[in-house]
Amino acid sequence: MQTSVADHPLVAHKLTALRDRGTDTPTFRRLAYELTTLLGYEATRNVRVEPVQVVTPVAPALGVRLARPVPLLVPILRAGIGMLDGLASLLPRADIGFAGLVRNEETLIASTYATRLPADLTGRDTFILDPMLATGGSMETVITMMLDRNAATVTAICLVAAPEGLARLAAGFRDGSVPVQVVTGAVDAGLNDKGYIVPGLGDAGDRLFGSI
Ligand code: PRP
Ligand code: URA
Repeated sequence: MQTSVADHPLVAHKLTALRDRGTDTPTFRRLAYELTTLLGYEATRNVRVEPVQVVTPVAPALGVRLARPVPLLVPILRAGIGMLDGLASLLPRADIGFAGLVRNEETLIASTYATRLPADLTGRDTFILDPMLATGGSMETVITMMLDRNAATVTAICLVAAPEGLARLAAGFRDGSVPVQVVTGAVDAGLNDKGYIVPGLGDAGDRLFGSI
């Protein structure tokens, strides 16, 4: 598994504002959108394209277009929804699937309460969206869903990752034939005794959508 940490002043600037507990929900949503477009640029570096010829007002030009079958974007509910528009703005023709998971706040084990995914992902690039990679349990489950459906590639995009979660994914997806990568805005210090990322940004779902 490959991990890329965005090294860009705009990512650092927006992430700092996102972390700030004084940032209100509308601003948090806008920052999550903007950060996803910046991380999405890196995450789509190897997206499959095919050659195409167009004619400019001056002459024929060779170029590329996204290959078919189109990529699949999968936000992990709830908080991944806050990143969906950002990546969909870069890949407007991508299909969108859904995986709903919730972490038990005592055991820290994630359980799946909803899925809406194509049964067969043969030949498709897949992009999983979740702002927080903490223990890695939620992401591990959804990456496995992609691999079980025969995805060509799996890219997880996170705003903040914990070393514990990255280590879990690296161990779980070490030698597979399918490329699995994580693109994140930052790797933080670690998890606290409640399984929260430190310093992190708190509960991403609550900050995006309010507490339930
Ligand atoms: C949060 C977050 C991730 C998960 C990360 O979701 O959005 O999905 O926890 O934790 P993990 O890496 O230890 O699995 P949560 O379960 O709180 O649900 P929500 O998005 O509905 O708030
Ligand atoms: N989920 C969150 O929303 N935040 C964390 O720090 C860990 C898991």
